[in-house]
Amino acid sequence: MTNRIINFTRGMPPSDVFPVDELVDCSRAALQRDPSVLLQYGRSPGYPPLCAWLAQEMGIGVDRVLTGNSSLELFAFVTQLLLPPGARAFVESPSYDRAIALLQRAGAQVVGIPLEPDGVDLAALEAELRRGVPALMYLIADFQNPSGVTTSLAKRQRLAELAREHGFWLVEDAPYRYLRLHGEPVPTLLSLAPERVLHLSSFSKVLAPGLRLGYLVGPSETVTQLAAWAVDTYIGPVLPTQGMVYEYCRRGLLKTNIARLCELYRPRLEAALAAAERHLPEAKGCRPDGGFFVGLTLPGPVRMDELLRRAAQVNLKLSDGRGFFPCPTDGENFIRIPFSSVTPEEIEDGVARLSLVL
Ligand SMILES: Cc1ncc(COP(=O)(O)O)c(C=O)c1O
Repeated sequence: MTNRIINFTRGMPPSDVFPVDELVDCSRAALQRDPSVLLQYGRSPGYPPLCAWLAQEMGIGVDRVLTGNSSLELFAFVTQLLLPPGARAFVESPSYDRAIALLQRAGAQVVGIPLEPDGVDLAALEAELRRGVPALMYLIADFQNPSGVTTSLAKRQRLAELAREHGFWLVEDAPYRYLRLHGEPVPTLLSLAPERVLHLSSFSKVLAPGLRLGYLVGPSETVTQLAAWAVDTYIGPVLPTQGMVYEYCRRGLLKTNIARLCELYRPRLEAALAAAERHLPEAKGCRPDGGFFVGLTLPGPVRMDELLRRAAQVNLKLSDGRGFFPCPTDGENFIRIPFSSVTPEEIEDGVARLSLVL
């Protein structure tokens, strides 16, 4: 049982799902059609036809769209431009480890707001707001990384109200939004408070992360400021990728690809939930409706260092739960099971090994 390494650290698509032939074809078509734009310097906000396609998809003006080399890089620009030194920044606790790291790197005082199965604890948020209004609050409202939680509509509405009332930015990071495996979509924070939301997403989870192609939607003045910041950083994002992806979208292939991915991930999510119920019945977590992750809080005292060491002995690789919490000791008991790049059999085997180690 313990021969093969099972890797529960990777929040990525499996490499065999990339539509290679279609992308090769789209790349050739794009470069042949528009070489003088795609191979020349071009400025942020990015390849105009792609920006226009994104704007049309989202039903907004193109002046509200900025593309960049990954959503993470766009978030880095947000932290550099919109966080005055020493500003407070709120995140869900737990949250995406790299976002916490970028906020800390920008010198923010990062405050974690405990996450409940339907979104952040609003009483805790309001108490923190009384202590000091943040420059921004970073949230992953759909199928959160690492917990799998989706913020309810009622909580989204309250978040939108609070952002308006106190004048802080909501940074809505939504890379998993289109990977809904069950149920109906919940309106975005962007749709509820367009003037206070910077919405981030990318083609990483719905097409291929190696493309490094992300986008941001926000009020046009802020998008203009961020685009100027991007121009001063790298003039413009990588355009051949943008041309290839635009061609892919223009041909209507993205929706088919997303449907194909959902078919692949649905049984993996079910396998993760069933394995958790069978082998870790006392662990607490939500039942995610999509995305890549099931997050679990283990019962009783757990020493994370010891857990990671013993898991490695049975060839199980785990992420350190503490990395997802602005206050790392809050994550001693936290485990993230990424189900996207492991088969249902590996998920079952991996969770069984975890329970053995525990
Ligand atoms: C919540 C979240 N945001 C952003 C990213 C990174 O996205 P991108 O590849 O567009 O930088 C990830 C990747 O794991 C993620 O989980």
